[in-house]
Amino acid sequence: MKPVVFFNSLAEKSGAVMPRGDYSTASDDYVVAQQWDVYTAEQHALWRRLYQRQAKLLPGRACDSYVEHLAHIDAAEGIPNLAAVSEALFRATGWRLVAVPGLVPDKVFFAHLAARRFPVTVWLRTPEEFDYIVEPDIFHDFFGHVPLLFDPVFAAHLQEYGKGGLKALTLGGLDFLARLYWYTMEFGLVKSSKGLRAYGAGILSSVGELDYCLNDQAPHRIRFELERVMRTRYKIDAYQKTYFVIDDFQQLFDDTTPDFTLLYQRLKTLSALSADSLLPGETNLSLANASLDDDG
Ligand SMILES: [Fe+2]
Repeated sequence: MKPVVFFNSLAEKSGAVMPRGDYSTASDDYVVAQQWDVYTAEQHALWRRLYQRQAKLLPGRACDSYVEHLAHIDAAEGIPNLAAVSEALFRATGWRLVAVPGLVPDKVFFAHLAARRFPVTVWLRTPEEFDYIVEPDIFHDFFGHVPLLFDPVFAAHLQEYGKGGLKALTLGGLDFLARLYWYTMEFGLVKSSKGLRAYGAGILSSVGELDYCLNDQAPHRIRFELERVMRTRYKIDAYQKTYFVIDDFQQLFDDTTPDFTLLYQRLKTLSALSADSLLPGETNLSLANASLDDDG
């Protein structure tokens, strides 16, 4: 799930007019019934194949918190029942999952996050989309995003992001906040004692990018700095040119919580940076397991 700024970009790229999904029964906040009983045996089997392929790639690549929490979620054997997982999630961090038809408007998306509700798309990709899908489906939303909602610090940060999103709508800051989301929630890397690890859902649900983001020489890996991230454009139809590395989720919480009014004002006076830019003084951590301790 992503802010609709993402969808607007997607529509431009693909010529799509409307997002996929059946919006006819959605309530004002775009919530629908998941209708878990309607998934076919073929769809559950497709989910299992997606899950098993991705789970094999996680060791040594996904961050510890993600791996730990995924292991406690009952989702390996078929498309999960969102209501059941939501109950366990609420007990853990006070978050709930809500089923949605697909992408939802920014204001709705932010309002859900601010209220500790995470929107999960109900439809699953087709077998033809096994390797790649642009628009987020339930596999991306659930497998990529839900495990870290069980992490208390990460979950707290995401609520702050939602509150910030509602404010950004009135401050003209949406593009900047979308970049923050993109480079953290979707494509973020985090430091660990054993090297870099992925925590972004776009990476964790991708068969190719999970290894690429850590081990390919091509992309830049740069220490996370809030203003830098908010200035940086991103690619939606290719592997990322740059990944930003946080120290830990506390850093994400601390950086996301403050009021961004003045920051947005300053950002509006600055030019945007290309996705592959490297500024003077920045260190490109070109190797996944390079020590970050020695880099300025
Ligand atoms: Fe997402």
